[in-house]
Amino acid sequence: MSYTSNGFTDIKFHEEIIFERSRPGRCAYSLPAKDLTGVADLIPADLRRKELDLPELSEIDVVRHYTRLSTYNFSIDHTFYPLGSCTMKYNPKINEKMARLSAFTDLHPETPLDRAQGTLKMMFDLQHMLAEVSGFAEVSLNPAAGAHGEYTGLGVVRKYHQKRGDLKRKKVIIPDSAHGTNPASCAVNGFEAVVLESGPDGKICLDCLKGMLNDEVAAIMLTNPNTLGVFETDICAITKACHDAGALVYGDGANLNAIMGVARPGDMGIDVMHFNLHKTFSTPHGGGGPGSGPVGVAKHLVEFLPNPVVRKVGDRYEFALLKDSMGRVRSFYGNVGIALRAYVYLLELGKEHIAEVAEHAVLNANYIKAKLKDVYNVKYSNDTLHETVFDDSKLPNHVTTMDVAKGLIDRGYHPPTVYFPLIVHGALMVEPTETESKETMDGFIDALKDIAEKAASDPQSILNAPTKTYIKRPDETLAARKPVLKYGAEK
Ligand SMILES: Cc1ncc(COP(=O)(O)O)c(C=O)c1O
Repeated sequence: MSYTSNGFTDIKFHEEIIFERSRPGRCAYSLPAKDLTGVADLIPADLRRKELDLPELSEIDVVRHYTRLSTYNFSIDHTFYPLGSCTMKYNPKINEKMARLSAFTDLHPETPLDRAQGTLKMMFDLQHMLAEVSGFAEVSLNPAAGAHGEYTGLGVVRKYHQKRGDLKRKKVIIPDSAHGTNPASCAVNGFEAVVLESGPDGKICLDCLKGMLNDEVAAIMLTNPNTLGVFETDICAITKACHDAGALVYGDGANLNAIMGVARPGDMGIDVMHFNLHKTFSTPHGGGGPGSGPVGVAKHLVEFLPNPVVRKVGDRYEFALLKDSMGRVRSFYGNVGIALRAYVYLLELGKEHIAEVAEHAVLNANYIKAKLKDVYNVKYSNDTLHETVFDDSKLPNHVTTMDVAKGLIDRGYHPPTVYFPLIVHGALMVEPTETESKETMDGFIDALKDIAEKAASDPQSILNAPTKTYIKRPDETLAARKPVLKYGAEK
């Protein structure tokens, strides 16, 4: 017997898969008898199954099986999920309802444009809303995730330099606080990522950057506010220095939720930026694929956007193909259902309330920081915006960030992002988002204080955590590199 955080007590119940619960002849539903003579002949013989092994269960067993499985994952609908940088923002249910309207779901991608004007209008309007919020000339909805947006945006940078015949520019400068997808996106675009060390305050050192700029630099790729949650106050001087040297400025827009409605990246001189719709505009987090990472560009880069772009000609919405496009990045037109959720979110929020999202996100992060900074070390003491990075250096008895993360699971919380950004040793990066209440954050703060107190008085209880989960402490590297995804494969 074991007790788990989701309340199930029967270990056998945990281990059985649906085929093991099957009993011959048991059934949940009987289909009405139907004459199917000749139907099988419609399927070529070599495609017909010889046998079909399906589990046989009663309805209640099926319901319990899947309801139980649904509780195995932490989710934003289940509990507080304070992942810094990854931003697990609440997904309002109205978004889901609208995205399920058959007028959208029944539309085939090959539908003639005359019959898809509603969806095209939604895409066109969303492009404009995103452009307005961020200060860019045009936005493409094609990329399928933030990282995919990076790939696309750097493709725009590549195409810009190619068109000018400036082929020497092969380097992209990236601060050492950047997300790992940044250098990866450079590599797949044929650029060389060059690391820029952060200054002592965690920000970009302007003079260091100036020293690195030359006629081989294609762009700088920066995140603002950066992954410490710190706003780059020199941003206008940074973009000017890059432009003076003939380089472009790529903005990783993952943290737009910290400033939207208050300041616009386009106005700061950023040339191209991706949005993570899941972070800022409340769509489900796409897991690197089924998400959406639109790309916005300044006027001088519009001609290089990926094809196709949605344009309005008279009263009609159309797909245009740009001659100098960086290419296609997606079959058809991106994840339209995800774009639709962001569109609903923006309409529901209304232009006049957009800034409140950023203000509350910043307030919440600073509340947690103020309550915990005496217990967990904060390496960089700058003012932070929507997220805050603690570390484990104040914890006694060799209790580390990983132990804190496991201790939080026992207390019913998803751990924050750990060991990122790399410039903070033992980082614990917390982002509450604007949707969490003071009571939820207070519970989380108490849990972190309790863990720090136990680290001193009863360290073993933290070093042994989690005690309430089905799987305890897997080998993190093996679990990531060689996950056992097939039932029975581990036996
Ligand atoms: C700063 C930053 N940039 C880029 C990404 C990549 O975004 P996505 O997860 O949508 O691919 C992330 C993801 O969490 C991020 O935090």
